[in-house]
Amino acid sequence: MDKSERLEAYFTAIDIKKIKGNSMLNFDLYIKNDKNFILYKNRNLVLKFDELQRLYDKNLENFYIHNKDTKNFRSYLETNIGEMLESENIPVQKKAEVLFESAVNVVEDIFNNPRSGEAIQRSKEMVGHTVNFIVSAPNAFVNLMKIRRYDYYTFTHSVNVCTFLVSLAQKFNITDKQTLKEIGEGGLLHDLGKSMISSSIINKNGKLTKAEFDEIKNHPAYGVKIAKETRDITDVSLSIIGQHHEKVTGRGYPKGLQSSELNIFAKMASIVDVYDAITTNRSYSNAKSPMEAAQFLIKIKDEFDNKILMTFIKMLAVQ
Ligand SMILES: [Fe+2]
Repeated sequence: MDKSERLEAYFTAIDIKKIKGNSMLNFDLYIKNDKNFILYKNRNLVLKFDELQRLYDKNLENFYIHNKDTKNFRSYLETNIGEMLESENIPVQKKAEVLFESAVNVVEDIFNNPRSGEAIQRSKEMVGHTVNFIVSAPNAFVNLMKIRRYDYYTFTHSVNVCTFLVSLAQKFNITDKQTLKEIGEGGLLHDLGKSMISSSIINKNGKLTKAEFDEIKNHPAYGVKIAKETRDITDVSLSIIGQHHEKVTGRGYPKGLQSSELNIFAKMASIVDVYDAITTNRSYSNAKSPMEAAQFLIKIKDEFDNKILMTFIKMLAVQ
């Protein structure tokens, strides 16, 4: 590995369109010149609009940030996301990327500090942005799916489930934004209870013992408990958190509820949760392709509400 390759490993390319003119940077901004990374603007300085324009004029495509600034960059995106989503100069695909990265940032902070009032407020704002984006752009869902990450982290999974749920609910003619936000919040927080479980169990490679699996099965109830204690949350969101592992056969957990007792959005969540998990690379199994995953869901269709399952599979087909 030569020197430039070693340097490459420390930096991440940032599309120039993700940087806003006249915005305060909370990370050092680099430009790549030949094989060298040159500091262009120090953190805590404002990148002026005309400076940015000059770089556009030179057809610069990417800035670079040091990897250690990834978290700061995501916070920057989150701070500016409202304006970015409304901007007519940013393509939908870039907006989807910004939304995804910001949402992952929020979920990470919630899981690290589930009772933080600030993180709770940020999650509400992020769900609002997600709903507005999906409702306003006809191809938003397709774009969000394109950038969906396939490595398995609870954070990215939470964002994926939120996106799937809001899009699926729309297929059932749920158009009221307030309801979509409640559904989205349930999706984003569905695994919140995992934050109460030891990471040695959550991240264990290999088979769980019975006791460990029993503890995992507590996460929907833990999630409901934290959500109720810490936030103003509706029954729709709580049902998604509490029931996303229930099955229409009555053989799910934690309560083994019957189909008639399940909230319709929780039934949706149980499907999209499994779909996202099996199409994601996890340490102990390789991801299934969307087609294989759909076939798998059909094979175990008795566990799910059939009409919802078929609608979901049709929705995936238009990706
Ligand atoms: Fe779960």
